[in-house]
Amino acid sequence: MPLDILLVDDEPTLRLVVGDKLAAAGHRVEVASDGARAMERLAERVYDVVICDLLLPKVGGMRIFEHLRREAPGTDVILITGQGSVPDAVQALRNGAVDYLTKPFDLERLLHELVRVEEQRELARELRRVKSALLSAGGAGPGAMVGRSTVMQRLFERVETLAGSDAPVLITGESGTGKELVARALHERSPRAGRPLVTVNCAAFPETLLEAELFGHERGAFTGAFKKRDGRFRVADGGTLFLDEVAEIPPQAQVKLLRVLQEGAFQPLGSNETVKVNVRIISATHQPLKQLVADHRFREDLYYRLRVLDVRLPPLRERRGDIPVLVEHFLGRFSAERRITGLTPRAWAVLLHHAWPGNVRELEHAIHHACVLAGGGEIDAHHLPDELADVDPDDASLPLDGGIQPLATALREFEREYLQRALDAFGGNRTRTAEKLGISRKNLWEKLRTHGLKPAGDGRAED
Ligand SMILES: Nc1ncnc2c1ncn2[C@@H]1O[C@H](COP(=O)(O)OP(=O)(O)OP(=O)(O)O)[C@@H](O)[C@H]1O
Ligand SMILES: [Mg+2]
Repeated sequence: MPLDILLVDDEPTLRLVVGDKLAAAGHRVEVASDGARAMERLAERVYDVVICDLLLPKVGGMRIFEHLRREAPGTDVILITGQGSVPDAVQALRNGAVDYLTKPFDLERLLHELVRVEEQRELARELRRVKSALLSAGGAGPGAMVGRSTVMQRLFERVETLAGSDAPVLITGESGTGKELVARALHERSPRAGRPLVTVNCAAFPETLLEAELFGHERGAFTGAFKKRDGRFRVADGGTLFLDEVAEIPPQAQVKLLRVLQEGAFQPLGSNETVKVNVRIISATHQPLKQLVADHRFREDLYYRLRVLDVRLPPLRERRGDIPVLVEHFLGRFSAERRITGLTPRAWAVLLHHAWPGNVRELEHAIHHACVLAGGGEIDAHHLPDELADVDPDDASLPLDGGIQPLATALREFEREYLQRALDAFGGNRTRTAEKLGISRKNLWEKLRTHGLKPAGDGRAED
């Protein structure tokens, strides 16, 4: 499997020589000549490997490395050092860089390193395949997450990657965006999957009771504690503890939680015994936790401990491309014996243009509601809940489409995707792509310009 590589170095000759060599070895290479450009590329897409000089103009290599560790933990990083930056490189190696090469370096060593990276990635992919096959064997049950938008596709990849780690994850996003589903997926795809996933809704308990719930208590520890009881932490030992609505944890419990995160230990209420546990913590909130920290309502140290890794779920209105698949998904769930045959264009118009303040949960309810009301046949706009009346299905300016666009738009989209695939397949080589597509190089060049596409690099991608 060829690798998608970003090569970042400010020396033009190095970019050219190394870029050519990598492309000749079959990899898809893009290049960036300084740190700022590299960051722009990284904001746009995820690479398999980033080969990065440490001494760079604008944004330094260490910053890029740290950014990647945070934002794209699945990307392998190889660093290039000149004189003087070796200590940085060694530090990066400790923090998960694959290797560092000292200039002038041996190209064969780099290629050899990439073969190793490829093997590792292939193994990891195989493992994921096996896992997701196991998961989907249960069918598209209530636990299944769907989404075809680019943001959600990336999010699914990120979930796969983060699942392998033991570090705490903080999931943020508006109400109804799927935070709980992500927490489940993280657990189910982790090595802890065979162990318990214990959920505690931190908003559901008054102060002392939450502490007792989390850490357990001795008999008589407080009024009403008639019996000794194990806390959720102990129940979750070896598995995952999901702290939902984590922003609601009262100050006292925040201190205790911090200690568990630091030392893996706590004391049950009314007990002197120290309990050690091995629990992965996933937390979620729809509140702006950072703001709560600024307002001194949530401990800053705890905040950073909880969000070593993070997943942000975008609101549904920012990923309308997911609406059609979500509708299909929920129809499958709520249309008893598939008696609903589909949706009218007026119903689609409403679903595609509603603001969805309640996100996926609101969409789920809307489809459930409509399935019950319609009973069978097609769902029309008037079967949808009243809250969706902010969209007028008869507004002539709305495209009545059900996800169906005008043919010209659809063809344009298809062409764009097709060109991108073809370019990728030929490692960005435009001559070969044009040949294969049976059009002239000039024609291809014009099409790429209209679509705003850039070849993924033929080793000299900046031409
Ligand atoms: N991508 C998705 N695919 C399928 N179903 C989804 C998806 N996202 C959310 N849902 C469904 O929408 C509902 C709300 O999701 P969930 O409970 O995970 O949201 P949440 O972010 O935890 O919300 P809250 O902040 O209100 O607790 C659930 O029934 C869930 O199954
Ligand atoms: Mg929730």
